[in-house]
Amino acid sequence: MQTIEWKRNKIRIIDQTRLPAELVYVDLNSLKSVWWAIKKLKVRGAPAIGIAAALGVYLGMRNCPAKNFNKFYSRLDSVIGYLKKARPTAVNLSWAVERLREQALAHCNKDTDLLKRCLLEEALEILQEDKDVCRKMARLGSKLIKSGDNILTHCNAGALATADYGTALGVIYEAKKQGKKIKAYADETRPILQGARLTAWELMQQGVDVTLICDNMAADLMKEAKIDKILVGADRIAANGDTANKIGTYNLAVLAYFHHIPFYVVAPASSFDLTLKSGADIPIEQRDGREVRQVHGRLLAPKKVKVYNPAFDVTPQRLISAIITEKGIFRKPYRTSLKKLLK
Ligand code: MRU
Repeated sequence: MQTIEWKRNKIRIIDQTRLPAELVYVDLNSLKSVWWAIKKLKVRGAPAIGIAAALGVYLGMRNCPAKNFNKFYSRLDSVIGYLKKARPTAVNLSWAVERLREQALAHCNKDTDLLKRCLLEEALEILQEDKDVCRKMARLGSKLIKSGDNILTHCNAGALATADYGTALGVIYEAKKQGKKIKAYADETRPILQGARLTAWELMQQGVDVTLICDNMAADLMKEAKIDKILVGADRIAANGDTANKIGTYNLAVLAYFHHIPFYVVAPASSFDLTLKSGADIPIEQRDGREVRQVHGRLLAPKKVKVYNPAFDVTPQRLISAIITEKGIFRKPYRTSLKKLLK
């Protein structure tokens, strides 16, 4: 299963809006189609949208007729600005497209055909790096997992959210590979059910023992001592460790604190935004109210009821037991420990 790849000069993604009913691959071969695929969550999860956006920059530039750098750069700047608007919270998106900008600037004296090749190479490098990074996080994180652990996760931070193994789910896969007996619980993750549709499906595909729960069952499970650890991904982590992730993550962190359960965030360095002092500065995407009023297009609530639909919430750093990255496992005080990441 390959969530995102570069195939025959197109981006091939799994259309995640159609899972688990059907596994459908779609090809994206224009800038606009990439923007829509990101916006509509056909491709989703912080690392995967970073990769899609980076390849999207190339698609937006490959037919650029400019023969001098200034004209080329002006188009590049608008392509990057356009893609950044698709989804604002996951910093991996802007991190990836800014890497392509840097690449172009570093080769500003080259002819524009060569510049286009550099953009593609950099985007493919981001894709390859994500694979390596997933494996490293999984290996490091698996050290925290004991045989017999019952692990609760939220949203989908697995292979469907990355180019390879996933972040939080990667840790589970690695622990299982090491022969540890793991039982996973997946929150359904309203409003659009990434846990029910994607995580439950993905874990079953990988042969992990998974039980699906409604979001409002997590507290009861914890009270019954049926959860040993919580593993989640991240969309943006501020310099103090505050972490934005799928709406509902904060609920779990509060519950974990009350029940004395370790709460771990698993995320690559590309999910950190050390320019932000705290989570208060993280932009939170607000999405269409229909996602809350409906499930799979079926209306569940009054058609005109007002809806609050933030796609993410911010978990305060003090509720996070550790942040697992490819560069190591970081603990409080995050402001100091995360500085290492800068180096
Ligand atoms: O809205 P989504 O489905 O893109 O939200 C995804 C999440 O919140 C994930 O937990 C996060 O991106 C980490 S994925 C490794």
